[in-house]
Amino acid sequence: MKYTVDGSLCSGHGRCYLLAPQTYESDDDGFNRHLDEPVEVPAGREGAARTGAGGCPERAITLHL
Ligand code: F3S
Repeated sequence: MKYTVDGSLCSGHGRCYLLAPQTYESDDDGFNRHLDEPVEVPAGREGAARTGAGGCPERAITLHL
C-alpha cells in the first residue's frame, strides 16, 4: 500500500500524524511532510494509514492498494 497527500489540499490540520504517528510525518510548519509523492506504508501499518487518512478534514490523503 502507498499513500499520496495532495499538496493543494493539505492545510496543516495535523490529524493524520496525530492519529497515525508511525505512518505520517509533520514538516516544520505542521503540514504533512510528503506532499504530491507516493509514499510506501510500512508493513503492518495499513490500518493506521486508513485511520489517519480518514481523519483528514480536507480529504487530502489518497490510499493506493
Ligand atoms: Fe494535511 Fe490533512 Fe494531515 S490537512 S496535515 S493531510 S490531516
